Amino acid sequence: MIDRGWRKRLLGNRQLSPETLMMGYGYDPFLSERSLKPPVFHTSTFVFRTAQDGKEFFELAYGLRQKRPNEEPGLIYSRINNPDLEILEDRLAIWDEAEANLVFASGMAAISTCLWAYVRPSTVIVHSGPVYGGTDFLLNRILPQFGVTPIGFPAEGGTKAMEEAVDRAHALGSIAALYIETPANPTNGLVDIRRAREIADGLRGADGKRPVVIVDNTMLGPLYQTPMAHGADLVVSSLTKYVGGHSDLIAGGCSGTAAALEPIRGMRTILGTMCDPHTGWLLMRSLETLKLRMTASAEGARTVANFLAGHPEVASVWYLGSLPADHPDRPIFERQCKGPGSTFSFEVKGGEAEAFAVLDRLEVIKLAVSLGGTESLASHPAAMTHSDISPDEQLRLGITPALIRLSVGIENPDDLIADLDQALRR
Ligand SMILES: Cc1ncc(COP(=O)(O)O)c(C=O)c1O
Repeated sequence: MIDRGWRKRLLGNRQLSPETLMMGYGYDPFLSERSLKPPVFHTSTFVFRTAQDGKEFFELAYGLRQKRPNEEPGLIYSRINNPDLEILEDRLAIWDEAEANLVFASGMAAISTCLWAYVRPSTVIVHSGPVYGGTDFLLNRILPQFGVTPIGFPAEGGTKAMEEAVDRAHALGSIAALYIETPANPTNGLVDIRRAREIADGLRGADGKRPVVIVDNTMLGPLYQTPMAHGADLVVSSLTKYVGGHSDLIAGGCSGTAAALEPIRGMRTILGTMCDPHTGWLLMRSLETLKLRMTASAEGARTVANFLAGHPEVASVWYLGSLPADHPDRPIFERQCKGPGSTFSFEVKGGEAEAFAVLDRLEVIKLAVSLGGTESLASHPAAMTHSDISPDEQLRLGITPALIRLSVGIENPDDLIADLDQALRR
Protein backbone atom coordinates (compact mmCIF):
# COMPACT_ATOMS: atom_id res chain seq x y z
CA MET A 1 0.00 0.00 0.00
CA ILE A 2 1.41 3.41 -1.01
CA ASP A 3 1.61 5.85 1.90
CA ARG A 4 -0.50 8.81 0.77
CA GLY A 5 -0.19 10.43 4.20
CA TRP A 6 -1.91 13.81 4.21
CA ARG A 7 1.05 15.50 5.91
CA LYS A 8 3.73 13.84 3.80
CA ARG A 9 6.55 16.20 2.82
CA LEU A 10 9.04 13.67 1.46
CA LEU A 11 8.92 11.51 -1.66
CA GLY A 12 11.52 8.90 -0.83
CA ASN A 13 14.45 11.11 0.13
CA ARG A 14 13.17 14.04 -1.88
CA GLN A 15 11.86 17.04 0.05
CA LEU A 16 8.76 18.25 -1.82
CA SER A 17 8.65 21.95 -2.73
CA PRO A 18 6.12 24.34 -1.16
CA GLU A 19 4.39 24.92 -4.52
CA THR A 20 3.85 21.16 -4.90
CA LEU A 21 2.57 20.80 -1.34
CA MET A 22 -0.01 23.58 -1.87
CA MET A 23 -2.12 21.18 -3.98
CA GLY A 24 -3.06 18.87 -1.15
CA TYR A 25 -0.95 19.13 2.01
CA GLY A 26 -2.80 18.69 5.28
CA TYR A 27 -6.08 17.50 3.73
CA ASP A 28 -7.39 13.92 3.75
CA PRO A 29 -10.07 13.43 1.02
CA PHE A 30 -11.21 10.25 2.76
CA LEU A 31 -12.46 12.27 5.71
CA SER A 32 -14.65 14.37 3.36
CA GLU A 33 -16.58 12.02 1.03
CA ARG A 34 -13.40 11.65 -1.14
CA SER A 35 -13.79 15.25 -2.35
CA LEU A 36 -10.55 16.25 -4.15
CA LYS A 37 -10.65 19.75 -2.69
CA PRO A 38 -11.39 20.61 0.93
CA PRO A 39 -15.05 21.59 1.35
CA VAL A 40 -15.87 24.92 3.04
CA PHE A 41 -16.76 23.99 6.59
CA HIS A 42 -19.49 26.59 7.04
CA THR A 43 -20.34 25.71 10.61
CA SER A 44 -20.12 27.61 13.86
CA THR A 45 -19.79 24.53 16.07
CA PHE A 46 -18.76 20.85 15.98
CA VAL A 47 -20.56 17.84 17.49
CA PHE A 48 -18.70 15.87 20.20
CA ARG A 49 -19.02 12.07 20.11
CA THR A 50 -19.02 11.97 23.91
CA ALA A 51 -18.95 14.46 26.78
CA GLN A 52 -15.48 13.13 27.67
CA ASP A 53 -14.27 14.13 24.17
CA GLY A 54 -15.65 17.64 24.71
CA LYS A 55 -13.86 17.89 28.06
CA GLU A 56 -10.53 16.76 26.56
CA PHE A 57 -10.79 19.08 23.54
CA PHE A 58 -11.40 22.07 25.83
CA GLU A 59 -8.52 21.09 28.12
CA LEU A 60 -6.17 21.37 25.15
CA ALA A 61 -7.75 24.46 23.62
CA TYR A 62 -7.55 26.36 26.91
CA GLY A 63 -4.02 25.13 27.67
CA LEU A 64 -5.12 23.30 30.83
CA ARG A 65 -2.77 20.38 30.09
CA GLN A 66 0.00 19.36 27.67
CA LYS A 67 -0.80 17.57 24.40
CA ARG A 68 -0.30 13.79 24.60
CA PRO A 69 2.05 12.22 21.98
CA ASN A 70 0.26 12.16 18.57
CA GLU A 71 -2.87 13.82 20.01
CA GLU A 72 -4.63 16.09 17.46
CA PRO A 73 -6.61 18.99 18.94
CA GLY A 74 -10.32 18.19 18.48
CA LEU A 75 -12.67 20.54 16.67
CA ILE A 76 -14.85 22.59 19.05
CA TYR A 77 -16.17 25.89 17.71
CA SER A 78 -15.09 27.98 14.69
CA ARG A 79 -13.73 30.83 16.82
CA ILE A 80 -11.26 28.30 18.29
CA ASN A 81 -10.56 26.04 15.28
CA ASN A 82 -12.03 24.99 11.92
CA PRO A 83 -10.75 22.48 9.32
CA ASP A 84 -10.34 25.08 6.54
CA LEU A 85 -8.26 27.29 8.80
CA GLU A 86 -6.18 24.40 10.13
CA ILE A 87 -5.28 23.14 6.63
CA LEU A 88 -4.50 26.69 5.49
CA GLU A 89 -2.31 27.29 8.57
CA ASP A 90 -0.33 24.09 7.89
CA ARG A 91 0.31 25.28 4.32
CA LEU A 92 1.30 28.84 5.30
CA ALA A 93 3.75 27.46 7.88
CA ILE A 94 5.49 25.57 5.05
CA TRP A 95 6.12 28.78 3.09
CA ASP A 96 7.37 30.61 6.17
CA GLU A 97 9.60 27.65 7.23
CA ALA A 98 7.86 27.86 10.60
CA GLU A 99 6.52 25.23 12.98
CA ALA A 100 3.02 26.66 12.87
CA ASN A 101 0.80 29.51 11.69
CA LEU A 102 -2.41 31.23 12.77
CA VAL A 103 -4.77 33.01 10.39
CA PHE A 104 -6.71 36.16 11.17
CA ALA A 105 -9.52 38.37 9.85
CA SER A 106 -6.99 40.91 8.48
CA GLY A 107 -3.31 41.80 8.54
CA MET A 108 -4.12 44.32 11.27
CA ALA A 109 -5.96 41.62 13.27
CA ALA A 110 -2.79 39.49 13.07
CA ILE A 111 -0.51 42.37 14.10
CA SER A 112 -2.71 43.67 16.91
CA THR A 113 -3.51 40.22 18.36
CA CYS A 114 0.19 39.40 18.29
CA LEU A 115 1.09 42.63 20.10
CA TRP A 116 -1.74 42.27 22.67
CA ALA A 117 -0.31 38.84 23.49
CA TYR A 118 3.20 40.17 24.13
CA VAL A 119 3.03 43.73 25.46
CA ARG A 120 1.98 44.82 28.95
CA PRO A 121 1.48 48.26 30.54
CA SER A 122 4.80 50.07 31.15
CA THR A 123 6.66 47.98 28.55
CA VAL A 124 8.28 49.47 25.43
CA ILE A 125 8.11 48.44 21.74
CA VAL A 126 11.07 49.35 19.54
CA HIS A 127 9.89 49.58 15.95
CA SER A 128 11.31 50.41 12.54
CA GLY A 129 9.91 53.21 10.41
CA PRO A 130 8.10 53.70 8.19
CA VAL A 131 5.60 50.99 8.96
CA TYR A 132 2.22 50.53 7.28
CA GLY A 133 -0.11 53.40 8.30
CA GLY A 134 -2.50 51.15 10.28
CA THR A 135 0.42 49.67 12.22
CA ASP A 136 1.77 53.16 12.85
CA PHE A 137 -1.63 54.19 14.25
CA LEU A 138 -1.72 51.13 16.52
CA LEU A 139 1.84 51.66 17.78
CA ASN A 140 1.79 55.42 18.19
CA ARG A 141 -1.83 56.27 19.00
CA ILE A 142 -3.60 53.25 20.48
CA LEU A 143 -0.99 51.31 22.46
CA PRO A 144 0.20 54.42 24.39
CA GLN A 145 -3.35 54.69 25.78
CA PHE A 146 -2.65 51.35 27.48
CA GLY A 147 0.72 52.40 28.93
CA VAL A 148 2.87 50.92 26.14
CA THR A 149 5.59 53.24 24.82
CA PRO A 150 6.66 53.05 21.16
CA ILE A 151 10.22 54.02 20.24
CA GLY A 152 10.75 54.27 16.50
CA PHE A 153 13.92 54.25 14.40
CA PRO A 154 14.22 54.95 10.66
CA ALA A 155 15.01 51.87 8.55
CA GLU A 156 17.46 53.96 6.55
CA GLY A 157 19.43 54.73 9.75
CA GLY A 158 20.77 51.16 9.67
CA THR A 159 21.97 49.13 12.63
CA LYS A 160 23.22 52.26 14.43
CA ALA A 161 19.71 53.78 14.52
CA MET A 162 18.26 50.48 15.78
CA GLU A 163 20.88 50.24 18.54
CA GLU A 164 20.32 53.85 19.62
CA ALA A 165 16.55 53.27 19.78
CA VAL A 166 17.10 50.16 21.92
CA ASP A 167 19.32 52.19 24.30
CA ARG A 168 16.62 54.89 24.60
CA ALA A 169 13.94 52.25 25.11
CA HIS A 170 15.99 50.41 27.72
CA ALA A 171 16.16 53.58 29.82
CA LEU A 172 12.33 53.80 29.76
CA GLY A 173 11.40 50.29 30.78
CA SER A 174 11.36 46.66 29.82
CA ILE A 175 11.38 46.07 26.03
CA ALA A 176 8.57 43.67 25.12
CA ALA A 177 9.13 43.51 21.37
CA LEU A 178 11.33 44.56 18.46
CA TYR A 179 8.84 45.13 15.66
CA ILE A 180 10.31 45.37 12.18
CA GLU A 181 8.68 45.97 8.83
CA THR A 182 11.16 45.02 6.12
CA PRO A 183 11.02 45.99 3.32
CA ALA A 184 9.15 49.02 4.63
CA ASN A 185 5.90 50.12 3.05
CA PRO A 186 6.17 52.37 1.00
CA THR A 187 9.92 53.15 0.86
CA ASN A 188 11.35 49.60 0.55
CA GLY A 189 13.87 50.52 3.31
CA LEU A 190 15.46 47.35 4.74
CA VAL A 191 16.16 46.34 8.34
CA ASP A 192 18.71 43.65 9.24
CA ILE A 193 16.63 40.90 10.93
CA ARG A 194 19.67 38.94 12.13
CA ARG A 195 21.09 42.02 13.85
CA ALA A 196 17.70 42.68 15.50
CA ARG A 197 17.75 39.14 16.88
CA GLU A 198 21.32 39.55 18.18
CA ILE A 199 20.27 42.75 19.96
CA ALA A 200 17.19 41.01 21.41
CA ASP A 201 19.37 38.10 22.59
CA GLY A 202 21.40 40.55 24.68
CA LEU A 203 18.36 41.98 26.49
CA ARG A 204 16.28 40.75 29.43
CA GLY A 205 12.97 42.19 30.65
CA ALA A 206 11.62 42.33 34.23
CA ASP A 207 10.25 38.79 33.71
CA GLY A 208 13.71 37.51 32.72
CA LYS A 209 12.63 36.99 29.10
CA ARG A 210 14.19 38.62 26.03
CA PRO A 211 12.07 40.78 23.71
CA VAL A 212 10.26 38.94 20.96
CA VAL A 213 11.39 39.79 17.38
CA ILE A 214 8.36 40.32 15.12
CA VAL A 215 8.80 40.87 11.36
CA ASP A 216 6.08 42.13 9.01
CA ASN A 217 6.81 40.18 5.82
CA THR A 218 3.91 41.52 3.73
CA MET A 219 6.00 43.22 1.06
CA LEU A 220 8.13 40.22 -0.02
CA GLY A 221 6.55 37.23 1.68
CA PRO A 222 6.27 34.45 1.59
CA LEU A 223 8.19 33.78 -1.64
CA TYR A 224 11.00 36.34 -1.55
CA GLN A 225 11.85 36.55 2.16
CA THR A 226 11.84 34.01 5.01
CA PRO A 227 12.38 35.98 8.25
CA MET A 228 12.35 32.83 10.45
CA ALA A 229 15.57 31.72 8.73
CA HIS A 230 17.20 34.99 9.85
CA GLY A 231 16.18 34.84 13.51
CA ALA A 232 12.63 36.25 13.67
CA ASP A 233 10.42 34.76 16.40
CA LEU A 234 7.16 35.71 14.72
CA VAL A 235 6.34 36.62 11.13
CA VAL A 236 3.17 38.62 10.53
CA SER A 237 1.71 39.41 7.14
CA SER A 238 -1.30 40.81 5.41
CA LEU A 239 -2.65 37.85 3.45
CA THR A 240 -4.88 40.41 1.73
CA LYS A 241 -1.87 41.13 -0.49
CA TYR A 242 0.27 38.53 -2.33
CA VAL A 243 -1.15 35.40 -0.71
CA GLY A 244 -4.80 36.30 -1.42
CA GLY A 245 -3.48 37.83 -4.61
CA HIS A 246 -6.76 38.76 -6.33
CA SER A 247 -7.81 41.85 -4.31
CA ASP A 248 -11.02 40.08 -3.29
CA LEU A 249 -10.49 39.26 0.39
CA ILE A 250 -9.03 40.61 3.65
CA ALA A 251 -6.96 38.32 5.91
CA GLY A 252 -3.76 38.09 7.93
CA GLY A 253 -1.33 35.48 9.20
CA CYS A 254 1.25 34.97 11.92
CA SER A 255 3.90 32.22 11.76
CA GLY A 256 6.37 31.11 14.40
CA THR A 257 7.32 28.30 16.72
CA ALA A 258 4.38 26.55 18.35
CA ALA A 259 5.54 27.93 21.71
CA ALA A 260 5.76 31.55 20.50
CA LEU A 261 2.31 31.27 18.93
CA GLU A 262 0.63 29.80 22.02
CA PRO A 263 -0.21 33.12 23.77
CA ILE A 264 -1.36 34.55 20.42
CA ARG A 265 -3.63 31.57 19.82
CA GLY A 266 -5.25 32.11 23.22
CA MET A 267 -5.61 35.85 22.57
CA ARG A 268 -7.18 35.17 19.14
CA THR A 269 -9.74 32.82 20.69
CA ILE A 270 -10.84 35.44 23.20
CA LEU A 271 -10.69 38.51 20.93
CA GLY A 272 -12.33 36.55 18.08
CA THR A 273 -9.91 37.92 15.48
CA MET A 274 -9.70 34.67 13.49
CA CYS A 275 -10.23 34.34 9.74
CA ASP A 276 -13.61 32.95 8.57
CA PRO A 277 -13.82 29.53 6.82
CA HIS A 278 -14.86 30.87 3.42
CA THR A 279 -11.93 33.32 3.31
CA GLY A 280 -9.69 30.46 4.47
CA TRP A 281 -10.91 28.34 1.55
CA LEU A 282 -10.28 31.20 -0.92
CA LEU A 283 -6.75 31.57 0.46
CA MET A 284 -6.05 27.86 -0.10
CA ARG A 285 -7.18 28.26 -3.70
CA SER A 286 -4.87 31.30 -4.04
CA LEU A 287 -1.91 29.40 -2.58
CA GLU A 288 -2.00 26.97 -5.52
CA THR A 289 -0.93 29.78 -7.87
CA LEU A 290 1.13 31.85 -5.42
CA LYS A 291 4.52 31.10 -6.93
CA LEU A 292 3.28 31.60 -10.53
CA ARG A 293 1.69 34.95 -9.67
CA MET A 294 4.57 36.30 -7.60
CA THR A 295 7.13 35.24 -10.19
CA ALA A 296 5.20 36.83 -13.06
CA SER A 297 4.60 40.11 -11.24
CA ALA A 298 8.25 40.29 -10.14
CA GLU A 299 9.34 39.93 -13.78
CA GLY A 300 6.89 42.65 -14.86
CA ALA A 301 8.05 44.93 -12.05
CA ARG A 302 11.66 44.67 -13.20
CA THR A 303 10.69 45.80 -16.71
CA VAL A 304 8.51 48.64 -15.42
CA ALA A 305 11.12 49.82 -12.87
CA ASN A 306 13.83 49.91 -15.56
CA PHE A 307 11.54 51.96 -17.80
CA LEU A 308 10.74 54.44 -15.00
CA ALA A 309 14.43 54.80 -14.08
CA GLY A 310 15.12 56.16 -17.57
CA HIS A 311 12.06 58.43 -17.82
CA PRO A 312 12.68 62.21 -18.00
CA GLU A 313 9.67 63.01 -15.75
CA VAL A 314 10.78 60.63 -12.98
CA ALA A 315 13.07 61.92 -10.21
CA SER A 316 13.89 58.60 -8.48
CA VAL A 317 12.87 54.93 -8.39
CA TRP A 318 13.03 52.96 -5.12
CA TYR A 319 13.19 49.45 -6.56
CA LEU A 320 15.13 46.82 -4.61
CA GLY A 321 16.37 45.19 -7.83
CA SER A 322 18.43 48.24 -8.71
CA LEU A 323 20.04 49.17 -5.38
CA PRO A 324 23.44 50.71 -6.19
CA ALA A 325 26.48 48.64 -5.18
CA ASP A 326 27.42 51.19 -2.48
CA HIS A 327 23.88 51.51 -1.01
CA PRO A 328 23.85 50.52 2.70
CA ASP A 329 20.81 48.27 2.10
CA ARG A 330 22.56 46.30 -0.65
CA PRO A 331 24.31 43.77 1.66
CA ILE A 332 21.09 43.29 3.65
CA PHE A 333 19.16 42.72 0.42
CA GLU A 334 21.66 40.14 -0.78
CA ARG A 335 21.70 38.27 2.54
CA GLN A 336 18.06 38.51 3.52
CA CYS A 337 15.89 38.71 0.38
CA LYS A 338 15.45 36.15 -2.39
CA GLY A 339 14.20 38.73 -4.92
CA PRO A 340 13.05 42.36 -5.20
CA GLY A 341 9.32 41.55 -5.44
CA SER A 342 6.91 43.76 -7.35
CA THR A 343 5.93 46.69 -5.12
CA PHE A 344 8.06 49.82 -5.21
CA SER A 345 7.72 53.59 -5.14
CA PHE A 346 8.98 56.32 -7.43
CA GLU A 347 9.07 60.11 -7.25
CA VAL A 348 7.83 62.27 -10.08
CA LYS A 349 9.50 65.61 -10.74
CA GLY A 350 7.55 68.19 -8.72
CA GLY A 351 5.34 67.63 -5.69
CA GLU A 352 1.84 66.53 -4.71
CA ALA A 353 0.10 68.28 -7.66
CA GLU A 354 2.35 66.57 -10.22
CA ALA A 355 1.98 63.17 -8.51
CA PHE A 356 -1.84 63.54 -8.34
CA ALA A 357 -1.93 64.52 -12.05
CA VAL A 358 -0.05 61.34 -13.02
CA LEU A 359 -2.32 59.20 -10.83
CA ASP A 360 -5.46 60.79 -12.30
CA ARG A 361 -4.29 60.15 -15.88
CA LEU A 362 -3.58 56.41 -15.47
CA GLU A 363 -5.98 54.28 -17.49
CA VAL A 364 -4.80 50.65 -17.18
CA ILE A 365 -3.27 50.89 -13.70
CA LYS A 366 -6.03 51.45 -11.12
CA LEU A 367 -5.82 54.25 -8.56
CA ALA A 368 -6.33 52.27 -5.33
CA VAL A 369 -4.49 51.41 -2.12
CA SER A 370 -3.37 47.81 -1.46
CA LEU A 371 -0.81 45.72 -3.31
CA GLY A 372 0.07 42.19 -4.35
CA GLY A 373 -2.97 41.54 -6.55
CA THR A 374 -3.09 40.28 -10.14
CA GLU A 375 -3.88 43.84 -11.29
CA SER A 376 -1.50 46.79 -11.01
CA LEU A 377 -2.40 49.49 -8.49
CA ALA A 378 -0.96 52.95 -7.86
CA SER A 379 -1.47 55.16 -4.81
CA HIS A 380 -0.12 58.23 -3.02
CA PRO A 381 1.23 57.12 0.40
CA ALA A 382 1.52 60.65 1.90
CA ALA A 383 -2.15 61.47 1.21
CA MET A 384 -3.56 57.95 1.62
CA THR A 385 -2.10 54.94 3.49
CA HIS A 386 0.36 56.97 5.59
CA SER A 387 -1.72 60.14 6.02
CA ASP A 388 -1.99 59.72 9.83
CA ILE A 389 1.75 60.49 10.06
CA SER A 390 2.54 64.23 10.46
CA PRO A 391 4.05 65.95 7.37
CA ASP A 392 7.39 66.47 9.17
CA GLU A 393 7.61 62.84 10.21
CA GLN A 394 6.58 61.75 6.70
CA LEU A 395 9.52 63.69 5.26
CA ARG A 396 11.88 62.26 7.88
CA LEU A 397 10.77 58.76 6.84
CA GLY A 398 11.12 59.50 3.11
CA ILE A 399 7.38 59.67 2.34
CA THR A 400 7.56 62.76 0.13
CA PRO A 401 4.64 64.54 -1.64
CA ALA A 402 6.06 63.44 -5.03
CA LEU A 403 6.06 59.74 -4.09
CA ILE A 404 3.81 57.24 -5.90
CA ARG A 405 3.61 53.61 -4.80
CA LEU A 406 3.15 51.06 -7.55
CA SER A 407 2.17 47.42 -7.15
CA VAL A 408 2.85 45.67 -10.44
CA GLY A 409 0.40 42.89 -11.35
CA ILE A 410 0.54 40.21 -14.01
CA GLU A 411 -0.64 42.25 -17.01
CA ASN A 412 1.63 42.57 -20.06
CA PRO A 413 4.38 44.90 -18.73
CA ASP A 414 4.50 46.75 -22.08
CA ASP A 415 0.86 47.82 -21.55
CA LEU A 416 1.77 49.13 -18.10
CA ILE A 417 4.74 51.02 -19.54
CA ALA A 418 2.52 52.58 -22.23
CA ASP A 419 0.05 53.66 -19.53
CA LEU A 420 2.74 55.16 -17.28
CA ASP A 421 4.36 56.88 -20.24
CA GLN A 422 1.15 58.63 -21.35
CA ALA A 423 0.35 59.60 -17.72
CA LEU A 424 3.85 61.02 -17.12
CA ARG A 425 4.15 62.86 -20.44
CA ARG A 426 0.87 64.72 -20.75
C1 LIG B 1 3.06 46.08 5.27
C2 LIG B 1 1.62 45.94 5.68
N1 LIG B 1 1.34 45.36 6.86
C3 LIG B 1 0.06 45.22 7.28
C4 LIG B 1 -1.01 45.67 6.53
C5 LIG B 1 -2.39 45.53 7.05
O1 LIG B 1 -3.07 44.50 6.39
P1 LIG B 1 -4.66 44.42 6.25
O2 LIG B 1 -5.08 45.54 5.37
O3 LIG B 1 -4.88 43.07 5.67
O4 LIG B 1 -5.24 44.57 7.61
C6 LIG B 1 -0.76 46.27 5.28
C7 LIG B 1 -1.87 46.77 4.46
O5 LIG B 1 -1.67 47.47 3.48
C8 LIG B 1 0.60 46.41 4.86
O6 LIG B 1 0.91 46.98 3.68
